[in-house]
Amino acid sequence: MQLPDESIDYQFQGLLTSQTDRWTALHELQQQHFLSPDRIDSLKQLVMHVRGQVAAERELRDMKDISPKMQPLHPGFIDLPQTLLEQHRRGAERSELGRILSQATRLREQVDRVIVLGVGGSSLGSRALFDALSHTHHNEMPARMRLGRPRMYFLGNDFDNDALQDLIEMLEAECVDPELQAERWGVIAISKSGDSLETSAAFRIFRGEAARYYGPHSEWLKKLCLIVTGAQSKMRDVCRADGYSEEDILTIPNSIGGRFSVFSAVGLLPAAVMGLDVRALLLGASAMTRRFLEEPFERNPVLQFAAVNHLMTQEKHKTTRVTAVWSKKLETLGWWHDQLVSESLGKLGKGPLPMTTVQTRDVHSRGQHFLEGARDKVINNLYVRTSRHPGIPIGMADRNEDDLNQLSRKTYPDLLDAAMAGSNQAFLESARPTADLILPVLSEHTIGQLMQMMMLATVVEGRLMGVNPYSQPSLEVYKQNMMHILRST
Ligand code: PA5
Repeated sequence: MQLPDESIDYQFQGLLTSQTDRWTALHELQQQHFLSPDRIDSLKQLVMHVRGQVAAERELRDMKDISPKMQPLHPGFIDLPQTLLEQHRRGAERSELGRILSQATRLREQVDRVIVLGVGGSSLGSRALFDALSHTHHNEMPARMRLGRPRMYFLGNDFDNDALQDLIEMLEAECVDPELQAERWGVIAISKSGDSLETSAAFRIFRGEAARYYGPHSEWLKKLCLIVTGAQSKMRDVCRADGYSEEDILTIPNSIGGRFSVFSAVGLLPAAVMGLDVRALLLGASAMTRRFLEEPFERNPVLQFAAVNHLMTQEKHKTTRVTAVWSKKLETLGWWHDQLVSESLGKLGKGPLPMTTVQTRDVHSRGQHFLEGARDKVINNLYVRTSRHPGIPIGMADRNEDDLNQLSRKTYPDLLDAAMAGSNQAFLESARPTADLILPVLSEHTIGQLMQMMMLATVVEGRLMGVNPYSQPSLEVYKQNMMHILRST
């Protein structure tokens, strides 16, 4: 039920070489740094083969079917959006999505502030959704304009003592009477392993704060501290000991890896609490899975994105992969993508270094380097074609010292379009490869497509490179070293 005018599109003509009989220095440079259409054609067969392989991996549910070389294998995210929607259609309240929605509604009705605790894949997805799809100043808006949506805070992703204390102080200052809904706060703690110290330490501290505020035996404690965790985890053990029933805890399936979990309760519970249309998110994601599985290369943004970026890194040595977002609302989504690419592909001495840049803000900082610095970058513009609000014109002024009257009818979207066209032209003319990922609008449906596209493309690229996109061995080393140091000092 995907609406054709809401489909996202990947346009990469800007980094293809063109045929010409006339020699120019620029043409020669472009031959060196751009991709030839023939090279992309010759990779298609392999890419289609990898698609078949990734699709087949979905069937390997039993550990005994999975060779040690392939482990870990977490392809559950691929079909998850469709499965959640179907189960919800059949089982409504009793389904996983039904449980997520009812827990979210209950929390939303009870509190005016929610602190989401999580790190990496257990945090960045929901932050990305909040920043992309909520009002830019959501937390500062009066309650009547937030339409019952609580203020959202994200923590439990570092060891920043002062940031933690500042949030506690803010809660103490703003929340004095727990009988008032406007002065109640809640927590959503998210950790698949349950032992990420950034999250588990913060969870302990906020449980302590909640016990102080609501009373150590208050019913609010369980109602206002929601948990999303793995089937076996210390966080689950803590909650069981606190009297939570299995029904109270949302479970992250084993078949879904941390950075691929945004369309499980990990991303959907906070999204529903912040009032987003989670069904539209899932519809968008599921439409992208269908496109990935069914469409030929020419209409398949997943395969195109994976193939183009893979060739750029492997053959054109573009080791820095820039996501240039043309809306600051997409900056956190860029960070989510950075994590997805770094943790999935940065292995065996391979993998691009991802970097998010916000345009045009960063034209005034990194722009110089991008245009004249090392030729180690490919730039993927992420651009929203239609702004949510009508374009704001510069307008006429009686006095014209700033000389802007000549542009008085130009609106902000006109300025943005001109900036992006100008920037792409400059990159083309200096043989710096760019491609455009176009979102028709910023909505749950398009963001659902985009995030699923990025996750699928990352898995395809991992398979093309010969690395396991689902593992993160160095993260485990970091965790072990830190615990060892803490225990021995
Ligand atoms: O992708 C991953 O596996 C990681 O980024 C994890 O999401 C992150 O380390 C958080 O792990 P956990 O949910 O177990 O606390």
